[in-house]
Amino acid sequence: MKTTCIVTGGAGFIGSNFVHMLCEIRPEWNVVNIDALTYAGNRENLTAVEKNKNYSFVHGDIRKHADVETAFTTAKKFGGRIVVVHFAAESHVDRSIQSGLPFVETNVVGTQVLLDASRQHEVTRFVHVSTDEVYGSLGDKGFFREDTPLAPNSPYSSSKAGSDLLVRAAVHTHGFDACITRCSNNYGPYQFPEKFLPLMLANASEDKPIPVYGDGLYVRDWLYVRDHCEAILCVLEKGAKGDVYNIGGNNELANITLVKRVLKEIGKPESLITYVKDRPGHDRRYAIDAAKIKAELGWSPRFTFDDALPLTIRWYQTQKEWLQRVRSGAYREYYGRQYGSGA
Ligand code: NAD
Ligand code: TYD
Repeated sequence: MKTTCIVTGGAGFIGSNFVHMLCEIRPEWNVVNIDALTYAGNRENLTAVEKNKNYSFVHGDIRKHADVETAFTTAKKFGGRIVVVHFAAESHVDRSIQSGLPFVETNVVGTQVLLDASRQHEVTRFVHVSTDEVYGSLGDKGFFREDTPLAPNSPYSSSKAGSDLLVRAAVHTHGFDACITRCSNNYGPYQFPEKFLPLMLANASEDKPIPVYGDGLYVRDWLYVRDHCEAILCVLEKGAKGDVYNIGGNNELANITLVKRVLKEIGKPESLITYVKDRPGHDRRYAIDAAKIKAELGWSPRFTFDDALPLTIRWYQTQKEWLQRVRSGAYREYYGRQYGSGA
């Protein structure tokens, strides 16, 4: 069936990877990308698809009803059934600790505005892209499952949990057709360099210190962004209405192990590692049980860390100008506030 996919936050890290993937593997679909172009959104991420006839960009804010309406009007011009993949969010934990309100405004209020419009315009499938962080923190053992109780700890993860519950309510109360995905930490091209992996690559390339929070023994499960995007498409096309799907990479690494691995890969010395003050309320460990999406929808990651880490490193090494541009102005102010020194 003719399909038009509204992507929110498509100029950000995962959203832009998703738009590129759709244009590549679902070329018959139309794509409408609505993005407010905050500090984290770069239209430049989508230069390669800007001229496609089946792609349209709406510079708009999901908190604003009129902007969301513009996205739907644009989608209706394309015709066919309309599906929504919702990435737009304030996404960085450290920023949410500095200031929580923008997280509630976009992640909670923006999601409700989008849900209301999506119901009104009879969207046939809505995928809400959430995070494993809504489950809180694990000790040394165990994994997050879809039935693990929500216990978010940061303003970021709490606002994401709030949005998950609003999606759940739309399904339960209004019979709306939505799924929720909860993924672990992503890495890959176009990730804003406030996040740990691109931050360490950017700093190391200039022989600047790499800030490691606390004892560096915090554990994250790393998944290549293309795998995440394929999992989201799989849920969009095959997921059961109202269901939650965990998405993970089976690739747990302590932060310090990750830094050492990256430094080795790029031939930089471990002396760049600098232990700094810990993140307040820092979640100790995230680990995903992704058995459900594998058993029910047939998805599992295609990329190993050994293959995708070098791909990612090479991308950042060849995108120095992109890195310079996104690290300008506002980012430098943020970096100074967060780390007490210049980026
Ligand atoms: P990102 O910060 O790189 O991109 C967010 C995008 O949303 C940006 O383009 C920004 O301009 C846009 N945006 C922000 N506020 C908006 C608003 N009010 N209206 C319209 N657009 C707005 O984020 P990301 O890392 O690509 O994450 C995308 C989604 O995936 C988020 O919902 C996040 O919670 C989730 N997620 C991320 C990860 C990860 O490792 N990065 C892991 C699991 C889940
Ligand atoms: P991050 O990329 O911010 O993702 P999240 O907090 O959503 O998991 O951080 C990944 C891990 O790296 C997390 O344990 C915090 C840690 N970290 C540092 O040690 N130093 C840093 O400068 C940053 C940004 C993160």
